Amino acid sequence: MALYSDKVMDHFRNPRNVGVIEDANGVGEVGNAKCGDIMKIYLKIEDDIIKDVKFETFGCGSAIASSSMATELIKGKPLSSALELTNKAVAEALDGLPAYKMHCSVLAEEAIKRAIADYYKRAGIPYDEAAFREFECCHDGE
Ligand code: FES
Repeated sequence: MALYSDKVMDHFRNPRNVGVIEDANGVGEVGNAKCGDIMKIYLKIEDDIIKDVKFETFGCGSAIASSSMATELIKGKPLSSALELTNKAVAEALDGLPAYKMHCSVLAEEAIKRAIADYYKRAGIPYDEAAFREFECCHDGE
């Protein structure tokens, strides 16, 4: 079996939603201290709906594929469903990632959560900060 699924290769080679949203109202950036990869998510939120989402990822192929898939999964969706997106759901949507590449999908989940938290802060919307767990780097094989 190939190490990477066709979907991973497709989203790596033809990533969706790459770029910057100049008038984004939520931006989240995360990095993994171990591999040095960085992911930035831009959200344009209107009436609790993610009208647009873009990403910039300086990272490995799995991180790029995870960013691309994660943005596809939340585009046009309510904030509540974006908040429920887990890295496992992103990996499953990609038909799986190798175990030692699962942390790449964690970047996508965390970048989206940080972008939503940023939106809440900018908009002055109270939110449960504890619910936005911090990105934990450096977990081997997670
Ligand atoms: Fe670090 Fe993929 S190797 S995000």
